[in-house]
Amino acid sequence: MRKEDYKIKVLVTGGAGYIGSHMVRMLIEHKNSVVVLDDLSTGFQKSVLGANIVIGSLCDKEFLDSVFAANEFDVVMHFAGASLVSESVINPAKYYSNNLIGTINLLNALNKFEISNLVFSSSASVFGIPNYLPIDERHVQAPINPYGRSKSIIESILNDYSIAYGIRSVSLRYFNAAGASLDGKIGELHDPETHLIPLVLQAAKHDQEFIIFGDDYDTADGTCIRDYIHVLDICDAHLLSANYLISGGETCSYNLGNGNGYSTKQIVKVAEAVVRKKIKINIGPRRHGDPPVLISNSNKIKNDLAWVPKFFNIEDIINHAWAWEINSRF
Ligand code: UFG
Repeated sequence: MRKEDYKIKVLVTGGAGYIGSHMVRMLIEHKNSVVVLDDLSTGFQKSVLGANIVIGSLCDKEFLDSVFAANEFDVVMHFAGASLVSESVINPAKYYSNNLIGTINLLNALNKFEISNLVFSSSASVFGIPNYLPIDERHVQAPINPYGRSKSIIESILNDYSIAYGIRSVSLRYFNAAGASLDGKIGELHDPETHLIPLVLQAAKHDQEFIIFGDDYDTADGTCIRDYIHVLDICDAHLLSANYLISGGETCSYNLGNGNGYSTKQIVKVAEAVVRKKIKINIGPRRHGDPPVLISNSNKIKNDLAWVPKFFNIEDIINHAWAWEINSRF
């Protein structure tokens, strides 16, 4: 394909990670030009299908400059960052260094190379324990762990950079990302895995016990409730956000979920129907820092950007994750 046939030129930081790698595939399917920047600390090179990857860290300013000097970009999609809540509590230095310093270096490079469009991976964890449900964008930000605080601080930095330097951004606050590509070629891959749906499915696959972290929460069945959103719907929201920014849209933030809450026990039940067998569960203690309920109100992005989730059905989400789990996990 000739260079001028590409629609937009995108730098994807963290493009070897779970959500980033699905984004890269979607961008390529839509005939956009993609460069992936990843330090491979948690991502996997084999997850990057069909795009150039430059391997290095956002904490290395000279490396960043070299990437921007060698390429033109219309927009940067910034997925890179450490993302484990429990790890952030015991190692906040890692979260503030990786997430804050890495993002500030990236923003300074954008400023230097006159790139004014950024889509940022924020998180529902900026809200902490919700005061009301579902959580809309007016909800106060009161994160309860260093991971959430790092995302919340970055959102403030993005607002300041927008006012001072004209770098406009969309922060997408994902609720619980889940699911996999429709052909099962890429899916949720973390090492170690800590997330609910892959762990439940692995327990089913290997006939192991799955531990539920606490059943004494103030919810109908005592287990935590989350809003699971398909990774491909998250990627759609990124594409819409990129186009919004390229056409001059102002800096803003959106909550991104389906607005449906499922308890951990309900997820296990749906998983049992998908895998067609009983999954052994045991009840363990609560995990430190888990809010009891997180459910998104995503009307703002639906109204502003015409975002329409395609895979809101929880059986579909778990089905896609299972297809990846049994066929293609590499
Ligand atoms: N859970 C278990 N057992 C497990 C793993 C998870 O019971 O072995 C429970 C958790 O306690 C929680 C639910 O399953 O109630 C979901 O847990 P995940 O670890 O899959 O996801 P989290 O809700 O903790 O975190 C996710 C992202 C974070 C993000 C957060 C906020 O991983 O990056 O959502 O939306 F900050």
